[in-house]
Amino acid sequence: MIAITREVSPSIARAELTHLERLPIDYPRAVAQHEDYCDALRELDVEVRVLPADAAYPDCVFVEDTAIVLDELAIITRPGAASRRGETTVMAEALAPLRTLVTIEAPGTIDGGDVLHLGRTLYIGRSDRTNDDAIAQVAKLVQPHGYEVVPVTFHGALHLKTAATRVSEDSLVINPEWVDRSIFRGFRTIACHPDEPFAANALMIGPTLIGSAQYPRTLDRLQRVASVMAIDSTELAKAEGGVTCCSILL
Ligand code: GLY
Repeated sequence: MIAITREVSPSIARAELTHLERLPIDYPRAVAQHEDYCDALRELDVEVRVLPADAAYPDCVFVEDTAIVLDELAIITRPGAASRRGETTVMAEALAPLRTLVTIEAPGTIDGGDVLHLGRTLYIGRSDRTNDDAIAQVAKLVQPHGYEVVPVTFHGALHLKTAATRVSEDSLVINPEWVDRSIFRGFRTIACHPDEPFAANALMIGPTLIGSAQYPRTLDRLQRVASVMAIDSTELAKAEGGVTCCSILL
């Protein structure tokens, strides 16, 4: 497996915020935590390709939003925040040797964080970042490859994957306050702990989950279905990013 990540921007203090109050971010600590994240991936035998940061893009560490990668193709997104649109250029360059590339065109906007890929289904959250035009474009691009697209309405979170992520072959962790669990056909759901609303974002690498150490009560629940690696991600959490946001997996 390959993970494409990107260094933390020195301008991360100006990251987009939608549902969070701005708090000071300790940049050296954010960098160290991100390096720990890359090391956790390497420990799981993932080849990590780290792209350089760019001070012009405060959110560039959150690479998940820049592309939707399937076995058959990679869709370069058109991120919903105008400040993030330019982040896609280096991701397209990194993915070009690995996949056939296609792109989302205006007026479509979509962030990869809104795309939950479960088997041959792409659940795509309608959000401030992702509109119906882009969802329709994705459906047209992936339908020839045998994928179904299911639009999902959710509330309270920036991205669908803030509210639901896969944690095993047949289960998801979700925040049931933010998304209706009955949408995800064929998957059982594990609710995050009610005191940890942002804990429904974990990164599944085979039988192991990378999760955020600041959500211990949810991670306890997830131990039932996976081996959990807890990492500190406090600083990027202040920039409204979770563990899935920081990599594109192929
Ligand atoms: N700060 C993460 C985002 O707004 O995309």
